[in-house]
Amino acid sequence: MSMERLDKLLSDRTDLSRVEAKKAIRAGRVQVAGRVLRTPDIRVNPALRITLDNKALRDSSALYILLNKPTGLLTAARDSRAPTVMNLLPPYFVKIKCMPVGRLDKDTSGLLLLMTDGELAHRLLSPKRGIEKVYEAQVAGQLDAEDVQAFQEGIALSDFTAQPSQLRILQADAEASTAQVSLMEGKHRQVRRMLGSRGHEVLSLKRLKFGPIVLEDPLPPGAYRELTDDEVQALKEAVNLV
Ligand code: URA
Repeated sequence: MSMERLDKLLSDRTDLSRVEAKKAIRAGRVQVAGRVLRTPDIRVNPALRITLDNKALRDSSALYILLNKPTGLLTAARDSRAPTVMNLLPPYFVKIKCMPVGRLDKDTSGLLLLMTDGELAHRLLSPKRGIEKVYEAQVAGQLDAEDVQAFQEGIALSDFTAQPSQLRILQADAEASTAQVSLMEGKHRQVRRMLGSRGHEVLSLKRLKFGPIVLEDPLPPGAYRELTDDEVQALKEAVNLV
């Protein structure tokens, strides 16, 4: 294990800047393995327990987050023109590279995973793994059995043919309909394009499920939580990473 400067570790794992981290260390607010260390440039083993004001710093090597993305935000680590999902999270998430797994469109809401684990993220997005994603869509017009059939057969779009997928109609009338769409792939704006190709403009779109992870009701839009150990394990099992 390579040793790292204490001020860097502190700044990497908290919202403190490097200057603020140095001040906190000199002020005696930081302990390493139970001892107060007051030297910002001292090198320490990053695996040791480090506390700030008696609160343990997070191990930055493994952070798994479920965010209920609201509409109106870009899914990107940063963007100079528009707010991103990272605006909803503590700034040090960017520092420790806790990154979105794939994308939801600006106008799509719901379940978005973010993680520091690049290998797991990569596998979850790999088309060959076929991880199921479930969306709830409200569309203009009346969905019917022909639409369900078209999804089952695989819809041809301008640049590719979507794999067979499931459309489950929850409610339908002449004005608007609600349905769940279950996809094993995740091309850009795929749900909108598939429904659009059937003549149904998407009015709202929300992701409910990503592989074994389900968005539960108590997590309001804009809120996030850490995945439980069981959820992380289930994700790893889904992509043979155990
Ligand atoms: N399909 C879409 O059209 N948009 C999303 O954000 C996700 C899937």
